[in-house]
Parts: sequence; structure tokens; C-alpha cells
Amino acid sequence: MNYKENLDTSNIPEHVAIIMDGNGRWAKEKGQMRLVGHATGVESVREALTAASEINVKYLTLYAFSTENWNRPKSEVDGLMDLLVTTIANELESLNNNDVRLMTIGNTDDLPDGCRNELLKAIEKTANNKGTVLILALNYSAKLEIKEAIKRIAKEYKEGNIGLEDVNDELVSNHLYTAGIPDPELMIRTSGEIRISNFLLWQLAYSELHFTPIYWPDFKKEDFYKAIYEYQNRERRFGRIGEQLNELDKND
Ligand code: FPP
Repeated sequence: MNYKENLDTSNIPEHVAIIMDGNGRWAKEKGQMRLVGHATGVESVREALTAASEINVKYLTLYAFSTENWNRPKSEVDGLMDLLVTTIANELESLNNNDVRLMTIGNTDDLPDGCRNELLKAIEKTANNKGTVLILALNYSAKLEIKEAIKRIAKEYKEGNIGLEDVNDELVSNHLYTAGIPDPELMIRTSGEIRISNFLLWQLAYSELHFTPIYWPDFKKEDFYKAIYEYQNRERRFGRIGEQLNELDKND
């Protein structure tokens, strides 16, 4: 089945988030170093970004490096940082040609200088682009994000700038790294693992979750379209029952 041709163009998610998993196992099964898996995974980043742009997904968030990933062997961490720097540098022109804007979420201050500088440069040079926004989650932890938001909200309360009655969903969302960005309607995780792994814990509250056994380096555009197709064929109820949704549709 050609998933792209069968998509409902009036129901494309505005924001898709992806946990790119399985690079290491993909490499191991081929008798290669883990870094070969990561390097091949860059090709899948390109596939997912192109697919997202082609169907007008406005935001694509990719979990590229978690705060827990520092615990990997130094050679792998260094290799991942180098890969990030070279990929951003190599792809900058292509991002601009395709009107893609780059953003990051996570504690990027603690990334190696070379990596942070390359990112800042690309963020600045793509800031006026109006197409898909590529959000890289780097040195990211959802629990840390929520803790930092709580601290800032507590400070605003202590200073008398907000009262308890002001603490609502919108206030919390506006204190997260993703302030101003709509929550993902769909989250995809590759490699067969069925976990959220400290990724966007607040933002995924009502997201549809799509788990595929495909390892990230094998993930292609058609796999992205398949995930969107399956998303479109689910019923999103937000706590309501199906009959209530039919009534809401009639009133549209
Ligand atoms: C998970 O696979 C993947 C990562 C931790 C890193 C993902 C990075 C890339 C795809 C390359 C750089 C990205 C950009 C945006 C330029 P794993 O190593 O956990 O695989 P395993 O579970 O099989 O060991």
C-alpha cells in the first residue's frame, strides 16, 4: 500500500516526535561498530525530515541525546557529538534550501563548545525559515525539564508575580523548553522498545503512540507515512466516548 497517497491531507498532525532507537543493535547485527549505526541513522533523520516537510508537518522533534546518554562509553559519546557537528555543518545549506528551521530543547549549555557553537550558528541562520521546524532534543530529560519549570514557577510565586490560582496547564506548558510549541499529536519509537524513556512526559499526555520494530537506520519515508496513516485511522477521544465525538463532528 502507498501510505502517502492514502493520507487525509486535512488531518496531518502538526507535531510529530520520534525516539530514534536501535542504531546500536542495527550495527551489531551487521558486525559493525555502534557508531556506524549512528552515522547511518543520520540518513533516516533526512528521510523523516523530508517526509514531514512533504506533508506539511509543522514540527518534528527528534530525541538525539538524553541526559542519560553521557553514561555511554566516552568513545561513543565523543563520536555522537562529532557526528552532530559534522551533520549540522553539512546540512545547513540543505536546511535553508528546504525552508527548515532548526531549534533545540534540552540543556545545550552543557554540550561540548564545538557542538554548541555549530548548533547556535545553524539556529541563527535558519531562524527566519517558515517551513518545518526541526527540534533536536539534546542533553534532554523530561524530568529535568519539569523540575526546572517548577523552580521557575515557584520563584514567580514567591516574588508575588503569580498566585496559586494562576497555575494551570497553560502556565506549566509555557515554562517548559517547548513553550509556544503545540504538544505532539503523535510519538513514534523505533526498534521495538515500548517505553517513553524520559521523553516529553508532560507534552505526550494525549499523544497517540506508534511503536515499530524497525531499527532507526532502516526507518524510511514510507515508514513515517505509515505511522501517520495509522494515526489518522485511530479515534482520539481525550477522555470522551466515541458517540460524543460523533456529535461534535456533526456540530462542526
Ligand atoms: C539510539 O540508538 C540513538 C541515539 C542515542 C542517537 C541518535 C543519533 C543519531 C541518529 C545521529 C545524529 C542525529 C542528528 C539529529 C544529526 P541506540 O544507540 O540506543 O541503539 P541500541 O538501543 O540498539 O543500542
